[in-house]
Amino acid sequence: MNNVLLGVSGGIAAYKAVDLARRLVQRGFQVKVVMSENATRLVGPATFRAVTSNPVALSLFAEGGAPMEHISLAREADVVVVAPATANIIAKMAHGLADDLLSTTLLATRAPVLVAPAMNREMWSHPATIHNLEILKERGVVVVGPESGPLACGEEGEGRMSDPEAIAEAVLHVLGMGSLLSGVQVLVTAGGTREPIDPVRFIGNRSSGKMGYALAATAARMGAKVCLVSGPSALACPGGVDRVLVETAEEMRREVVSRAPSSRVVVMAAAVADFMPAEAVGEKIKRAGRDKLTLELVRTPDILAELGATKKDEQVLVGFAAETGDLVEKARAKMREKKVDMMVANDVSSPGSGFDSDYNRALLLFAGGREVQLDLMPKTDLAARIWEEVSSLLEGKAGR
Ligand code: CTP
Repeated sequence: MNNVLLGVSGGIAAYKAVDLARRLVQRGFQVKVVMSENATRLVGPATFRAVTSNPVALSLFAEGGAPMEHISLAREADVVVVAPATANIIAKMAHGLADDLLSTTLLATRAPVLVAPAMNREMWSHPATIHNLEILKERGVVVVGPESGPLACGEEGEGRMSDPEAIAEAVLHVLGMGSLLSGVQVLVTAGGTREPIDPVRFIGNRSSGKMGYALAATAARMGAKVCLVSGPSALACPGGVDRVLVETAEEMRREVVSRAPSSRVVVMAAAVADFMPAEAVGEKIKRAGRDKLTLELVRTPDILAELGATKKDEQVLVGFAAETGDLVEKARAKMREKKVDMMVANDVSSPGSGFDSDYNRALLLFAGGREVQLDLMPKTDLAARIWEEVSSLLEGKAGR
């Protein structure tokens, strides 16, 4: 649930679509923009490119453009938003016309579609437009706005495009994400830690950070205030997320423990090293004169256990359990020991999921005894499922 395709047609409100794109990026979406030719006369494609960090698609026959781009754009979109939607593009959509990249893509997509009309009030109230919108609504297209007020043509009346924030909210509703975590302060950890052996070597692990980053991005999209404490990771900080980078388990502990009291939810998705070298040598360990090297390792702090021991009643604590074999028993034991409300358990030896994969197959275990076995799914979808469960746990605590 990550990809938004934003279709910009040629209304004066096209400049407001830049703000819409920015708001969607801030919520962690990958936004790709398709502009009609008239739209490019009103706003430069470079502006959308800068805001979305993605190339802007302009023509079915662009030099250097990907072949069959309308099909790939249509397929990869989880939701399509047309903002502003002129009377012309609404008419083309209603009747299945496909004479440029935007209209062709709209005909080729099976993703949910949302339109934000913007036009002169006479055009808006014309029977043709009214009829075309009826057709779209019957087909399940979601129509946001328009609002009443001063119009670009100098007149007053109905026809102003809705505020970008209202359109962004509508996109979340279409994706079933609503504002489930509106205003909730959450703390997520991600990635693996690195425990230094000497200035050039460390003990690390195979965690990519993908699960934690997906959790942070999804929570931001659902309206949460998100702090992400991350070990070293190649991933970019998701939009709308406040990231704190750390290296070692000790550093992660410090950053997490200091922030946990002000967080309603803490999700420990990080692969924290369990052991660290007893002493980190200040100088590079040389090979010469050694046949073998023995490192003495000592335990790192167990951050999750510490959080569990000091947890407030109204807080929700979520842990991850990476296991090989006897998944349920081992994960349940960890859940009890660390006093967490919910454990996301996965068998890291099962093919296609776990470390560095974009997919994960998880078993959700709850302190009350409930178990939910989930299918193999993209980590972004799993993140949304986890937050839905967290939101129910929060409601349960508020209701007590
Ligand atoms: N965890 C932690 N601090 C540690 C080790 C783990 O906070 N020093 C957290 C992880 O972020 C995860 C949970 O504890 O949410 C379980 O981690 P896991 O590595 O599966 O379990 P361990 O407790 O380390 O036990 P083992 O490695 O023996 O399976």
